[in-house]
Amino acid sequence: MVRLGYVFVDNILELDVDLLGIGVVRGQVLEGWVSELDVEGLVSRAVEAEGFEGDEGKQLLVYLHPRVKPRRLLLVGLGEQPGYEQVRKASATTALKAKELGAARAAVALPWEKLEGIKTGRGVEEAITAAVMALYSYDKYRSEKKEKPRSFVVALAPNILDGETAAEAVRRGETIGRAVNYARDLANTPPSDMNPEAFEEEAKRLAQELGLKLRVFKRRDFEELGMGGILGVGRGSSVEPRLLVLEYWGAGEGSKPVALIGKGVTFDAGGLQVKSHEAMSEMKYDKSGAAAVMGIVKGAAELGLKVNIVALIPLVENLPSGSSYKPGDVLRMYDGSTVEVSHTDAEGRLIMADALAYAAKEYDPQVITDLATLTGAIVVALGPHAIGLFSNNDTLAKTFEELSTTTGEKVWRMPLWPEYHEMLKSEIADVKSTGGRWGGAITAAAFLSRFVKDKPWVHLDIAGTAWTTPRMGARKPYNPPGATGVGVRLVLEYLREASGRGGEDR
Ligand code: BES
Ligand code: MN
Ligand code: ZN
Repeated sequence: MVRLGYVFVDNILELDVDLLGIGVVRGQVLEGWVSELDVEGLVSRAVEAEGFEGDEGKQLLVYLHPRVKPRRLLLVGLGEQPGYEQVRKASATTALKAKELGAARAAVALPWEKLEGIKTGRGVEEAITAAVMALYSYDKYRSEKKEKPRSFVVALAPNILDGETAAEAVRRGETIGRAVNYARDLANTPPSDMNPEAFEEEAKRLAQELGLKLRVFKRRDFEELGMGGILGVGRGSSVEPRLLVLEYWGAGEGSKPVALIGKGVTFDAGGLQVKSHEAMSEMKYDKSGAAAVMGIVKGAAELGLKVNIVALIPLVENLPSGSSYKPGDVLRMYDGSTVEVSHTDAEGRLIMADALAYAAKEYDPQVITDLATLTGAIVVALGPHAIGLFSNNDTLAKTFEELSTTTGEKVWRMPLWPEYHEMLKSEIADVKSTGGRWGGAITAAAFLSRFVKDKPWVHLDIAGTAWTTPRMGARKPYNPPGATGVGVRLVLEYLREASGRGGEDR
């Protein structure tokens, strides 16, 4: 485990680290600590030779003069007008370089006084979160684990923050980074090792660790409650489906909870309308919504947020077999409505529907937020760069759009007009499960919206952003290959906002 922290630096020449990363604003490279480190012109010569100007995404490694303590300097370009995303990228780039070089002790510094619109405390937090995220790798099944730096600290000028604020920022950053990595671990785990049963075991462990209440619904409960969606999809697998209900009461009994629902299809083979081999190959990631919700609950509890949360995680394997549900079947859902199954590969909305309806009816939530790798169509629409956001409430949608500019998890709002509901009309049941090829992400969201009734609701379709492959080319330095944990920071940001942010933002 990497030791994270901050350090106040009087004299940068005395900072004893193997790698020091410094973020530089474009056109302002040889200033401040960088110019102090330029002993015998080693830095300025390298900067000049490489034509390094501080453009975003550019970096320059310099071996420093033996008279100064930091052994190597990594200049990281922040571009013209850096925001939190550039701070995260600079920190993550430094952490990755330290790992690559085998540098045991690493530090990062940023020109806080030049960064408009950035609160230094929050900036320190983001730098730590990004480093924790960057140093993540899923190596549970590797015989040889890769070496990581022993320590990573944010170097600060002594008067820029008080020690307590810096310490709190580091603690929050580490907590949030680890919550993201926890979600990544769950999503990255091979599908047979994280099936609904294994997921339940992990949730029990987490609930115990955090002291949270956990209820687990199984087949008998689904039959009693009439959850035909979860039952229907789950029929094809020899591992029975589950619905986990995790509760965190951080604000006491007086205030209504925020309901979080995460799609937990631990493997999506498509059911009887089986996927092609290419399409199926990455479907262990179809549990990314569920994984994110687990990470969010962990993060919220560890941050001690003053907010109430009820997290619902429906878990199934969507497999073809002799007992699978069939296209043409009609399911009776928890809310009493009937659904004609028009495609067995549209399974996510069916399990989400039961969970959404249960949350809306049983918990009187102030807001419902769901995360789901719901549709291939959202990947077609937005590619790997943005979450599809759908909402029945303009104020709530705006809040999420605004908060996402801080966390850098881009969202793009999609419509939910009545025309899309028309596409779901069925000849034999209240509604069909799919609306055909066109506008597939929207008809899926329109389907979900029926089950939240009138509750304020945000649906995040994370199918394009939940994991990265080299092919998609959307790599950020803090997102290693595999599961990204997308949504964890965004929803935690929302919950921090909802909990009133007890004086944390300096
Ligand atoms: N899990 C998939 C959606 C998905 C596709 C996520 C690609 C990530 C990458 C979902 O269950 C699914 O199969 N959706 C179908 C719906 C269709 C049959 C209406 C889709 O999007 O093709
Ligand atoms: Mn599917
Ligand atoms: Zn799916």
